[in-house]
Amino acid sequence: MPDQGEAQLVHVGSLDDLAAQGRRLVKVGRKQIALFHGEKGVFACNNRCPHEGFPLMEGSLAEGCVLTCNWHNWKFDLESGETLVGGDALRRYPVRLRGDEIWLDVADPPPAARAAKALEGLRASFRRHEYDQMAREISRLQRSGADPLDALRRAIDWTHDHLEFGTTHAHAAAPDWLALRENLAPEDPAALVPLVEVVGNLAWDTLREPAYPYAEGPCAEGQAGYSPEVLVAAIEGEDEAAAVALLRGALAEGLGFPDLERPLATAALAHYQDFGHSVIYVYKTGQLIRHLGPSAAEPLLLALLRSLVYARREDLIPEFRAYGGALAAWDGTGRRPVEACDLTGLGVPQALARTLESSADPQALFGALLGAAAWQQLHFDLERQGRHDQPISQNVGWLDFTHGITFGNAVRVLCGRYPELWPRGLLQMACFLGRNARFVDPEQDVEAWAVPDRDAFFKAAFARLLDHGAPEYIVSCHLVKVLTAVREEVEAAPDAAWVPTLLAATRRFLESPLKRKHSLRTAYQAAAFTAIED
Ligand code: FES
Repeated sequence: MPDQGEAQLVHVGSLDDLAAQGRRLVKVGRKQIALFHGEKGVFACNNRCPHEGFPLMEGSLAEGCVLTCNWHNWKFDLESGETLVGGDALRRYPVRLRGDEIWLDVADPPPAARAAKALEGLRASFRRHEYDQMAREISRLQRSGADPLDALRRAIDWTHDHLEFGTTHAHAAAPDWLALRENLAPEDPAALVPLVEVVGNLAWDTLREPAYPYAEGPCAEGQAGYSPEVLVAAIEGEDEAAAVALLRGALAEGLGFPDLERPLATAALAHYQDFGHSVIYVYKTGQLIRHLGPSAAEPLLLALLRSLVYARREDLIPEFRAYGGALAAWDGTGRRPVEACDLTGLGVPQALARTLESSADPQALFGALLGAAAWQQLHFDLERQGRHDQPISQNVGWLDFTHGITFGNAVRVLCGRYPELWPRGLLQMACFLGRNARFVDPEQDVEAWAVPDRDAFFKAAFARLLDHGAPEYIVSCHLVKVLTAVREEVEAAPDAAWVPTLLAATRRFLESPLKRKHSLRTAYQAAAFTAIED
């Protein structure tokens, strides 16, 4: 309903005729308007049900003003405008009676009001994760003339304090989805997909989650003010309140993500942690802020801080404990030439030791480590992801390998910017290799996965993302993240020896089954564990 601007009155017939017919369809330009004569008066609304567009003229009118669309039983109060059952709001038209004549005000609401209505509907769609409604509301937002990225900005704002552990894959995949969107014409319906994927993922990650508020205000009296070192120390101390206060202080000083990226990357690489997520999240948060602008910085950074504070530090468990010693031993003098094949079959301590032997040239070492990760992914023994009768430490799946690649991608970018972080990034890549070496089958035939035309491969693979068919966001997130990371790495080193392996490994991942639920394995492991816990 217009809340400002000129009325645009259209005569649509007489009250007597409408009363005799009960309802009537009128057309005004492109608009189809359903006109009802109910016990409570005359009402006009869009004939297209806001759910799936079926004609409301065929609906049932009860209680004088409650219209039911019989396709899916949505109910609308034509008097108040409320959607009583269902989701989207129904467009109504103000009715004016002049004697026996019916006039409608068909003026469209001003763009700002339309945009606000669409965002209101989008927010409401989060309650039950109504994916289809999200697509419609974002489309309505775009049609209002507003920036459709506002849907994402608002979704980030609505959800950031409902994330118990901060940043999720939804944020990490968001810049990759947005990059994909930039290759599509805005009016192409396919351009909605990336936005709905990210907004839907945020809605899913916070579905029925309570608020987990962040501490308010800048540093308390007696607390040190912001400095990069103090921020890193607060994260290391797992002190969310202090880290948040420092962040707020930094933002109040006018600092932005470019100023904060170095300490955040430092904190993320302070440990071999969270299976690489921390570094990936720092990299992707920066990209996302660049896409969305500074207004998105605070909620994104708060979530990122929380995820860094809560990250699990795997270098403290026995399997990766050699990492600390290797980092201490790094002196950047190791000059032994290294190739990917030198690193693929080593356990964690051996992979770390071999990495140290080539520490003098971080770029060459990075290429060898990434090539080794690609080789391992190409040779992942798929039978291992299907097993059920094994200890938890043997659980493995595709994502254990793809994380080696996406982690490497973030390491190259962030350590390239902050070279003092190379030792950590490279040794942590070696941890991935050492962990995954147990789960590959070097003898398998991988010829079939070769990618003869890399441009055609990327084009087809990115196009498939727009209709990926995976119901779980965690799957579509990894598809877009892996593909984007691989393309970035190939573009950064198009002639590197490991490029064909990385492409083949990516093709194999995209075209192979991804087992997401392990009912039998869970049951076996639960029974085995509980049998010895008493
Ligand atoms: S189309 Fe009207 S309720 Fe579904």
